[in-house]
Amino acid sequence: MRVLSALLLMTAVAAPVRGDSNFTAETHSAPPVKTVLKSSFHLYREGSVFEETCAVVPFRSETLHRCAYNHSDPLVMIIHGWKINGLMETWIFDLAHALKARLGRVNVLISDWRNLARQPYPIAAKNSRQVGRDVAALLKWLEVMKIVNANVF
Ligand SMILES: *[C@@H]1O[C@H](CO)[C@@H](O)[C@H](O)[C@H]1NC(C)=O
Ligand SMILES: *[C@@H]1O[C@H](CO)[C@@H](O)[C@H](O)[C@H]1NC(C)=O
Repeated sequence: MRVLSALLLMTAVAAPVRGDSNFTAETHSAPPVKTVLKSSFHLYREGSVFEETCAVVPFRSETLHRCAYNHSDPLVMIIHGWKINGLMETWIFDLAHALKARLGRVNVLISDWRNLARQPYPIAAKNSRQVGRDVAALLKWLEVMKIVNANVF
């Protein structure tokens, strides 16, 4: 058991050093200690269903490339409210579509905290603090990645 955890630790330590050119980005994008995110973030592209969005995973810079997140464009975040049915309602995609149509170049991120929201109201309300922390962590990471991105390319 001790050997196994030592091996896992070594893998974790060795991971950022794999590619020299990526070293800076990987180092900067390491999550701060004790950052556990309970919501997820999805870049709106086209369409009107959740399945057509692209998952941006905080502290995994390759997901920004995969989703074609553009650091030059402004960011708008759509955060849903209390949901007892657990559905991503259509107003979210209507709003995302309208933002794209109106602003042209913009990153529209949809926050998904349905697991925390699918609770009796007082619990969901309490959980919204976690959502605030998740959004803060995402924004801090995006700020760092914007600087890294500007220096690398
Ligand atoms: C970073 O590494 C990925 C693969 O891990 C590679 O596709 C990408 O081109 C690298 N980026 C740079 C700037 O070297
Ligand atoms: C990112 O956005 C800027 C300004 O909106 C644009 O000039 C640039 O071509 C975009 N980059 C990519 C890779 O689409």
